[in-house]
Amino acid sequence: MRTLIKNGTVVTSSNEYVADVLIKDEKIVQIGNNIDGTFDKIVDAKGKYILPGGVDQHVHFSFEFNGAKVRGFESSASAAVGGTTTVIEFVNQVKGKGLVDSIEDYRKANADGIASVDYSFHSVMTDPRPEVFEEIPELAKAGYPTMKLFMAYKGMFFHADDDAILKALMIAKDAGITVMVHAENADAIDVLQKQLVAEGKIEPYSHALSRPPIVEAEATRRAIYLAELAEAPLYVVHVSCKEALDEVSKAFNSGLPIKGETCSHYLVLDESNLAKPNFEGAKYVCSPALRTPEHFDALWNGITRGSLNAVSSDHCGFDWKEQKHMGKDDFRNIPNGAPGLQNRLGVLWTYGVEKGKITRSQLVDIYATTPAKNNGLDYCKGTIEIGYDADIVIYDPNCKSIISNKDSLHGVDYCPYEGMEQIGRVEKVFLRGNMTVDEGKFIGKEGQGKLIKGNPFGLMYKL
Ligand code: URP
Ligand code: ZN
Ligand code: ZN
Repeated sequence: MRTLIKNGTVVTSSNEYVADVLIKDEKIVQIGNNIDGTFDKIVDAKGKYILPGGVDQHVHFSFEFNGAKVRGFESSASAAVGGTTTVIEFVNQVKGKGLVDSIEDYRKANADGIASVDYSFHSVMTDPRPEVFEEIPELAKAGYPTMKLFMAYKGMFFHADDDAILKALMIAKDAGITVMVHAENADAIDVLQKQLVAEGKIEPYSHALSRPPIVEAEATRRAIYLAELAEAPLYVVHVSCKEALDEVSKAFNSGLPIKGETCSHYLVLDESNLAKPNFEGAKYVCSPALRTPEHFDALWNGITRGSLNAVSSDHCGFDWKEQKHMGKDDFRNIPNGAPGLQNRLGVLWTYGVEKGKITRSQLVDIYATTPAKNNGLDYCKGTIEIGYDADIVIYDPNCKSIISNKDSLHGVDYCPYEGMEQIGRVEKVFLRGNMTVDEGKFIGKEGQGKLIKGNPFGLMYKL
């Protein structure tokens, strides 16, 4: 099968140029002007941008909070219509099971034959027994070169203490595994939560009051010190505020292999959403909490200066009507997390590129190219180059729309970006050469996604 995409503007993380792109079967085989020959399909992309398919390195299709479980891979077509062709999902280690087995068992039951886009996995260590630390290098051999530990969520089975983080850092580095942390001080949050509830402050807005920037900054600094002690790279997920970013930037600027990501919602949604009446605020309960608007520019600066090298969705599809309402009488019981997989590219384009915060090449870098590198997928994903997977988005910059949950395929009853303007739209998406989105509609098949294994020693080691 030979598909020619003609006359579009190809955007890479370093430049942009008008060209034709020839796809043969699953790969990009030629890029140039006036490519001729015989083709099975010709797509005219004049006036549109040809972007690599997005790599969303922070997605939850299996997260559970107090028994509530998010929507799974059956909702992953929402990634495709949003311009993301590869997702990387966090798999909690099952107590008593190994790290690799936890992923493999999860994968076989929940992703293979179900995913609509390509996928890979991060391990989440939850059961820090000596034999589990010994197993860490096996993750790299199995193709899963990243492992997260949760410093937040006191009392939950996936919470990790400093002992586990330090030991994980010490072992992971030699195997080329990047340790990631969700950095928030779990004890401090617990104290603040109990105080707020004792004062009768049980509304969703208390979520923000119980997780001020300083609890994120403290844990970020602590994790960085642990990484320094272990002489290991560290990746800080979902950096939400200036204070935590300052810690990452200080470490990064001093030459340490330490970087972080932020997420689309921390760039455009502020904490006032948590105060929405009629329990609407619960839709915005995610951790770290949304911040005041002053933090937006600090995060954009972190992106342009390089200490934040990716923007993820932290997609976490809990329903509002049932699951979020578990916390109607106590904000601590509201499942943490919000959907956003479908909106990442549109949000970055509209509020990043169109507002002059980032260039188109920077957008491509933070939504596709660098997330692929961070996770060792850059041998086939994240850029428009000959030999790479033909994961391609045709983005039409001339459309304007209002974001609405009725256009979402995430299977959740709300969208946190509801009512916001979007400039441009994902018109077509190719997943390994197969047209999967046309005219903004999903035309692919459930189960078309495949496992992409990562190489160890991701970007963090190449600093
Ligand atoms: O609130 C969030 N972010 N939920 C998903 C789990 C996590 O902490 O990343
Ligand atoms: Zn987290
Ligand atoms: Zn997350």
